[in-house]
Amino acid sequence: MSIAIDGPSGAGKSTIAKALAKKLKIAYVDTGAMYRALAYAFIDMGNPQDHHRALEEMNLKISPEGIYYKDKLLTDELRTGQVSKRASELSKEPAIRAYLLDYQRKLGSDQDVVMEGRDIGTVVLKDAKVKFFLTASDQVRAQRRYQQNLEKGIQIPLDQVEKDLKERDHRDCNRSLAPLKQAEDAIVIDNSNLTLEETVEKMAAIVEAKN
Ligand code: C5P
Repeated sequence: MSIAIDGPSGAGKSTIAKALAKKLKIAYVDTGAMYRALAYAFIDMGNPQDHHRALEEMNLKISPEGIYYKDKLLTDELRTGQVSKRASELSKEPAIRAYLLDYQRKLGSDQDVVMEGRDIGTVVLKDAKVKFFLTASDQVRAQRRYQQNLEKGIQIPLDQVEKDLKERDHRDCNRSLAPLKQAEDAIVIDNSNLTLEETVEKMAAIVEAKN
């Protein structure tokens, strides 16, 4: 069984996908973290122009525990504003998407999985059993991201957070390759007025009804 979750930045996809996977006792795959890890490595390598060569040389190790670069497990460094922006810029590049696509498809076919990103229901797992498009209002998404930053000790003004999210969404929705869009057969969940638990309950009930 595979479950695809797509949606804009700050809709709570990672937290919700992780909680849903735990509830259903299946694997969770965060494809955004893969784009972020590539972006982190590109920045570290001085943003090389030759993407194919950079991908060969960076020697990234993607494993079930996470992503290793230079033998170090990447965690908080993937969540900076600089990495978010670079990930969204790089993710329009064909070489980058092709590099990750095979790996993501393999993860989706080897096991039962909840996979989240931007193109899971439309490209990566087109045959997913259940597809969700998870969203929330611009204000709610910005407020949540602002709050997450504060909890990590990062102070970025709310209007700047909202501007960054909109810029990233615009880039993700308007690229020619695998843009963020709702799959025709996706179920839309707007969680602007739902708690994390309510959202997970609602999605789990939909999955169970389809089983
Ligand atoms: O989901 P997250 O915010 O971590 O993703 C970071 C960036 O990676 C997104 O803004 C998007 O540009 C890219 N991405 C993508 N396709 C995916 C997942 C993420 O293009 N399946």
